[in-house]
Amino acid sequence: MKYSAVIFDLDGVICHTDHYHYMSWKQIANDLSIYFDENINNRLRGVSRMESLEIILEKYNGRLTNEEKMMYAEKKNNIYRSLLSEMSPADLSDDVRKTLVQLKKKGYMLAIGSSSKNAKFILNKLGLGDFFDTVSDGTNITRSKPDPEVFIRAREYLKVTSEKCIVVEDAKSGIEAAIAANMDCAAIGDAVLCGLATYNLNRLSDLLLFL
Ligand code: BG6
Ligand code: MG
Repeated sequence: MKYSAVIFDLDGVICHTDHYHYMSWKQIANDLSIYFDENINNRLRGVSRMESLEIILEKYNGRLTNEEKMMYAEKKNNIYRSLLSEMSPADLSDDVRKTLVQLKKKGYMLAIGSSSKNAKFILNKLGLGDFFDTVSDGTNITRSKPDPEVFIRAREYLKVTSEKCIVVEDAKSGIEAAIAANMDCAAIGDAVLCGLATYNLNRLSDLLLFL
């Protein structure tokens, strides 16, 4: 086998929580009368909560103190968490479920590589709390994507080399992080547009065409 481990991004790859991020930031942008749309939202994919806020504030006419920024980031997270609280295993699509089960059957080690501090909460909601061999997330990194740290941590936990890993990402920042980690990568959704990935997927199960 060319690869022995598959490292999945979470938001926008395993589940549709990328849309919940968008809805939550939209409320914050509305509160501050800031223009915000799906295109700006695509720049938030893979980057940390505070970095996301800074991107949104590029279109803000006023200035916020650090305390105010912290307050808005927390407010966004509270809106986001209330959307997450409604999630259940039914939020895992058949395509994602089938792909994960098949890859495990084929003997691949499976990991999560996500910038989110809510990753474990989401995995539990989806009924995937114990499914992955390791979870590298926003709680164990100091720099978010496009820095490769989150993927390097994942492969260290799995004890494999970068050449044996393939990353699956919906974010341009995530594809750049995989490349910086010397890992091959498969793009899905918005990440396909950057044209930098080793493979492009229409749906997650396309992985099964070559893994
Ligand atoms: C990433 C998302 O997975 O996690 C980003 O793509 C988000 O949009 C980042 O900002 C941090 O998430 P959280 O849940 O810690 O606010
Ligand atoms: Mg993502």
